[in-house]
Amino acid sequence: MAISSSSSSSSMQDMFKQRKYPFIFSLFLLLIFVTFLLISNSQKSPIFAAIDFAQRTALIKSVPGFNPNSISTSTSTNLHQSDKNNNTSINRESPLNNVRIDPQSSNIPLKINPEKSDMIISDELETFSYHWKLCPGPLAVDYIPCLDNWKAIKKIKSRRHMEHRERHCPVPSPRCLIPLPKGYKLPLPWPKSRDMIWYDNVPHPKLVEYKKDQNWVKKSGEYFVFPGGGTQFRDGVNHYIEFIEETFPTIQWGKSIRVLLDVGCGVASFGGYLLDKNVITMSFAPKDEHEAQIQFALERGIPATLSVIATKKLAFPDNVYDMIHCARCRVHWHADGGKPLMELNRILRPGGYFIWSATPVYKKDEGHKNVWKVMVNLTEAMCWKMVARTFFKRGRVGLVIYQKSDSSSCYENRKENIPPMCDQKKNRLNSSWYTPLDSCLLPLATSSYKWPAPWPQRLNTKPLSLMLETDAEETFNEDTRHWASLVSDVYLGGLAINWSTVRNVMDMNAGYGGFATALIDQSLWVMNVVPISGPDTLPIIFDRGLVGTYHDWCESFNTYPRTYDLLHSSFLFGNLSQRCDLVDVAVEMDRMVRPGGYILVQDTLQMIKQLGSILRSLHWSVTLHQHQFLVGKKDFWRPKDIARE
Ligand SMILES: *[C@@H]1O[C@H](CO)[C@@H](O)[C@H](O)[C@H]1NC(C)=O
Ligand SMILES: *[C@@H]1O[C@H](CO)[C@@H](O)[C@H](O)[C@H]1NC(C)=O
Ligand SMILES: *[C@@H]1O[C@H](CO)[C@@H](O)[C@H](O)[C@H]1NC(C)=O
Ligand SMILES: *[C@@H]1O[C@H](CO)[C@@H](O)[C@H](O)[C@H]1NC(C)=O
Ligand SMILES: *[C@@H]1O[C@H](CO)[C@@H](O)[C@H](O)[C@H]1NC(C)=O
Ligand SMILES: *[C@@H]1O[C@H](CO)[C@@H](O)[C@H](O)[C@H]1NC(C)=O
Repeated sequence: MAISSSSSSSSMQDMFKQRKYPFIFSLFLLLIFVTFLLISNSQKSPIFAAIDFAQRTALIKSVPGFNPNSISTSTSTNLHQSDKNNNTSINRESPLNNVRIDPQSSNIPLKINPEKSDMIISDELETFSYHWKLCPGPLAVDYIPCLDNWKAIKKIKSRRHMEHRERHCPVPSPRCLIPLPKGYKLPLPWPKSRDMIWYDNVPHPKLVEYKKDQNWVKKSGEYFVFPGGGTQFRDGVNHYIEFIEETFPTIQWGKSIRVLLDVGCGVASFGGYLLDKNVITMSFAPKDEHEAQIQFALERGIPATLSVIATKKLAFPDNVYDMIHCARCRVHWHADGGKPLMELNRILRPGGYFIWSATPVYKKDEGHKNVWKVMVNLTEAMCWKMVARTFFKRGRVGLVIYQKSDSSSCYENRKENIPPMCDQKKNRLNSSWYTPLDSCLLPLATSSYKWPAPWPQRLNTKPLSLMLETDAEETFNEDTRHWASLVSDVYLGGLAINWSTVRNVMDMNAGYGGFATALIDQSLWVMNVVPISGPDTLPIIFDRGLVGTYHDWCESFNTYPRTYDLLHSSFLFGNLSQRCDLVDVAVEMDRMVRPGGYILVQDTLQMIKQLGSILRSLHWSVTLHQHQFLVGKKDFWRPKDIARE
């Protein structure tokens, strides 16, 4: 069939001359068959999909040396596609591998006809069967494996430092599925969800009672509604946000201040409203008696994660947050010689700000005054400058704004080396994952630290923490171009994903944050996860003005069940499956994704087939595109049996 047009007429004549009628007849029959095949494939007939799949697979196996980044630019999805295989040595976790793109091919739009390239992976080809059961117990609907491990928590000797709120992951990982709360419905869409969510989706009425006078959250019919209150801003969070900028105009929301951490965030109204000002806030709180704050935040579609300042470092890099905010966040910053405050100092960008709105700032009784004195001593010793201390009349609360030093000169001029400088010889790689809190200050450069470019230029400006190697910048730019074209040409238009229902997104191996960057104009946010087993690109992600965290995908993530609309990964599973069981990873993805939500995976065909068959056994609908993109959609199915406790 691959007769080129220029030669076809002459060869046709030859055929007639040589009386090759039987040949032409069979050619004709073949043509009819192929046409029929294409039509039935587009209607997703499972039988023909299976045949087609088998043929493609056979072809793929015979073709070596596929580079996943030079994605086929072919518009057809017929049997001649020949540039894919399942070479597992392809590894996207390394950002340098990630961007070996042929610049020419990456610029050509990748046109895909979704009708023709969609395909249901057939049961006959890959069977994975497992007798799925629901997690047991009345609390199973909100089960977070690493935070609800009561067996391990009971054994903890001390709870003085909130050790019982830290991660204690069960080994082996639980294989049970999370039941749905009664009456669970598809979440309300953003931006409506900022102000109201379904009561049945997070049926936790305690917070309403507990925070009654503070206007956090109310129950109204079938909904919870969020009037925008908070402990330190009963009167509405917008006034408070504006008051901060008036107090200290150097804080230009959404220009110089872009990436913020809100400690003990309540229902994350502060972060939710700062989104209007182009500020992205990572809101965090522990799972504690303030029942389900983070669950409320995520149900609303506001970036949030479960975490605690206890004995271990937060899972963030050094020197990355532009600002940290704490409004009565119940952390004793001055405890243990100021260890918690030194953790803030570690993650705060040099020259960045800490806003502390708490009673010791403005209450005059003896206890509060003593705490204030200790804080004054501590912050001075740490070279934090108090740039404002004021009273917010409308909210009847006081606040103080500190600025972290932006060079080492202040450290050097201190009378005593207390707190001491951190030991630079210690390997700081991987140092924010299950590592104890430091009680030292990170050395800074002698010259003044450079602040990132104002938002939004910051997103595509060369990140400050990019390595100094000569080709690093070109690599970074290529990565950005690669994701821009993949997202616009394939992800947004070519796949079976309704993006207008997608709000909470997680990139499971975010690299430089190119995926999130390419989606910046969508009405969604991305949690950029950098696996601890790969290269540490998280500082670069923060430099661009995006948020993220470290994680090990062989363990469960610190989030409630049903909190993400879409999980994305790119060549993550090859390496992961060498360290842990893919089934456990799939169970964790099933836990995190909301019914109606998606996973979008680019990987080798081998990995996609394995993952696809596990997802099918979980009753997800699974489609494969171009032999390398798997889209899974979760529905409301849950098994009937319940696992034993
Ligand atoms: C996989 O790809 C690498 C590098 O592209 C190549 O060296 C290797 O031979 C390939 N292996 C297979 C089995 O195709
Ligand atoms: C603060 O520091 C001063 C001098 O270093 C010391 O005398 C004082 O006791 C300290 N106050 C508190 C509350 O730690
Ligand atoms: C996508 O979702 C929106 C919101 O639920 C819905 O209105 C729209 O019809 C959906 N589009 C498609 C193509 O299904
Ligand atoms: C990070 O820690 C993990 C184990 O926790 C280890 O396997 C990995 O090699 C470490 N990575 C680096 C870059 O040190
Ligand atoms: C992938 O796994 C191999 C073997 O376990 C390891 O040597 C390599 O460093 C890993 N690569 C990444 C990027 O994690
Ligand atoms: C490719 O996948 C097939 C089955 O899916 C497997 O048998 C084969 O070993 C894989 N090849 C490579 C190079 O990973």
